[in-house]
Amino acid sequence: MSSPDSDEKYLVRAIRAEEWPAVKALRLRALRDPIAHLAFLETYEDAAAKPDSFWQERAAKASTGETGVRQFVAQGPDGEWVGSVTVLLEEAGTTDWAGFPVERRQGHLVGVYVRPEHRGCGLTEVLFDEAVQWAWAIGVERIRLIVHEDNGRAQRFYRRVGFLPTGRTVPLAGKPGETELEYALERP
Ligand SMILES: CC(C)(COP(=O)(O)OP(=O)(O)OC[C@H]1O[C@@H](n2cnc3c(N)ncnc32)[C@H](O)[C@@H]1OP(=O)(O)O)[C@@H](O)C(=O)NCCC(=O)NCCS
Repeated sequence: MSSPDSDEKYLVRAIRAEEWPAVKALRLRALRDPIAHLAFLETYEDAAAKPDSFWQERAAKASTGETGVRQFVAQGPDGEWVGSVTVLLEEAGTTDWAGFPVERRQGHLVGVYVRPEHRGCGLTEVLFDEAVQWAWAIGVERIRLIVHEDNGRAQRFYRRVGFLPTGRTVPLAGKPGETELEYALERP
């Protein structure tokens, strides 16, 4: 657990299974973001239609990390959830969601979101650091993420914390002409 050096009002930590209503609420909030169409593959309508059992299962799986998934959140001073990132463990020799082979044991960061009023203050770095440190601790060789080519703010943030474009691109299913870029951080 850690707090941004510049501002002690936040707490960054892994989620607990029983917190599934907060997992759901923050995800739905993220999917209402003005750039959600660039940031996330899922739509608000699809997520909102999912039953409670979906969110319960998602939170339970992502709470311990034992299933190769761990979700981290940032809490504000009143305890409200203001940001999140999830690490997926991808084993070498498997195939990823886009059908590409996974060559090395790696972490994949997904669901990156910080509420607008908490952006640009250093919180996102601390949230990322928690996720990255956990991924190194479970022995991955690299950490990657996928970002839309038009999501300039996210790309700039990723570069600032050390992620670099790998040159790999992923065409967006159902959105002809749109491309996502792979960024990665190599193990130090
Ligand atoms: C992506 C996100 C987590 C980044 O966190 P953040 O707190 O906004 O990041 P920061 O403000 O610390 O850094 C963003 C950088 O982009 C710059 N920036 C701001 N708006 C920008 C824009 N429209 N285009 C390009 N750069 C922009 C900032 O000035 C800052 O630059 P700096 O590194 O020189 O200071 C957050 O913006 C967010 O939740 N966005 C919506 C969801 C999303 O896009 N998720 C990523 C999916 S891959």
